[in-house]
Amino acid sequence: MAVKNAMTSDFLHSAYGGESMAHMRYLTWGTMAEKEGFPNIAKLFEAIAYAERVHANNHFKEIGGNTADATVVAGAVFGTGKTVDNLQGAINGELHEVEQMYPVYLNAAEFQEEKGAQRSFHFALEAEKIHAELFKQAQDAAKGNQDIKLEAVYVCPICGHTILDGAPDNCPVCGAKKEMYKKF
Ligand SMILES: [Fe+2]
Ligand SMILES: [Fe+2]
Repeated sequence: MAVKNAMTSDFLHSAYGGESMAHMRYLTWGTMAEKEGFPNIAKLFEAIAYAERVHANNHFKEIGGNTADATVVAGAVFGTGKTVDNLQGAINGELHEVEQMYPVYLNAAEFQEEKGAQRSFHFALEAEKIHAELFKQAQDAAKGNQDIKLEAVYVCPICGHTILDGAPDNCPVCGAKKEMYKKF
């Protein structure tokens, strides 16, 4: 269903832009982490890049309607440094989404009774909380010149829920079944 109100539509466009950039940025930083000798941090970046793609895709679909041009304004973290610095950029970006962006977007969507956008913003908000924590764990390891300890990263393809070392029977955010999770 297409969004009806201009403000929620603007927020969907902006969130789409932000998530699209986050997707690419994490792939770039992941490649850099691999070269720096942190294969698990690289895997974490790759998995979370996929989660951001899920969010971008959800927001894009909620815009709906006929195809049309739009100019998108979306804040983003730019720059490349050592992995420990890139992880700080990732943490800052995720915390911005958790503490400011998505709560405000979600409030607007609730006020404007935009059910689809509410769902899309809610899914992203819940995933970004976890991403911030995982990036903090990765940065703690990298600060000691260690890789993060993990076997695999699992991502829900419906909402982007992200978890280490094993998927739950049902996604705690959207209810998707264990078998649907994508493993990295
Ligand atoms: Fe995220
Ligand atoms: Fe999910």
